[in-house]
Amino acid sequence: MEQQPKTYKKITTKVLYDMKCRGEKISMLTAYDYTMARILDAAQIDVLLVGDSASNVMAGHETTLPITLDQMIYHAQSVVRGVDRALVVVDMPFGTYQGNSKRALDSAIRIMKESGGHAVKLEGGREVKESVERILSAGIPVMGHLGLTPQSIYKFGTYTVRAKEEAEARKLVEDAIMLEELGVFALVLEKIPADLGKKVAEMLKIPVIGIGAGPHVDGQVLVTHDMLGMTKDFNPRFLRRYLDLYTEMKNAFERYRDDVKSGDFPNESESY
Ligand code: KIV
Repeated sequence: MEQQPKTYKKITTKVLYDMKCRGEKISMLTAYDYTMARILDAAQIDVLLVGDSASNVMAGHETTLPITLDQMIYHAQSVVRGVDRALVVVDMPFGTYQGNSKRALDSAIRIMKESGGHAVKLEGGREVKESVERILSAGIPVMGHLGLTPQSIYKFGTYTVRAKEEAEARKLVEDAIMLEELGVFALVLEKIPADLGKKVAEMLKIPVIGIGAGPHVDGQVLVTHDMLGMTKDFNPRFLRRYLDLYTEMKNAFERYRDDVKSGDFPNESESY
């Protein structure tokens, strides 16, 4: 049943759970810096994800793999300073939680202590079970991420839709149930068939947030720079662009350049 949005003073993991129970959809976008976080928070976006997509969007890397824990903490600190209302979730970068639950806990504790973020997100199912358990045992909220998990891009070999085949879909469902049973507070599903997104969202009590997982999940997330149209060469089917900021910004920069070159800027009223 669809409900009118309720006004929340602060978004917590409990509030997100209540939203799912009420049938109220959850809005989530990425943020990597203070200025953008302030605007997103003013727009009452429920969850800000300090995504490791910062590796692509902010640093220009081809994949999310190179970004470091220190760099993620720096981005998260900046976002946290800009937020009054939203829940801030911080991605655990590649190499900080896989295959070693002690390292996973140490990394999650550093994120929480040094950034002030409210939760961590990590990719994978049964492969990262021990890490998820150990992080949760320290009282740190964990968001899961299944489907297309970009940190495994060299295993997949392609950014195409995941879990179209029965075996992979079954594994995804089993992993989603396992993560919920372990105690994760929400789950991101990336680039999977809409029917599968619906099935998982209906099966789980925790909120399921989709990116390319169809309309029947409990909320949606996009990379902010993509939905603003700042990135030109990324055109997946799931992306809705709300602005063409690339063109808008380029035009503004060109006008500024022309004003400087012609001597029109600064004028008298812009001078002391
Ligand atoms: O890093 C990121 O931006 C993400 C979203 C795509 C969910 O993980």
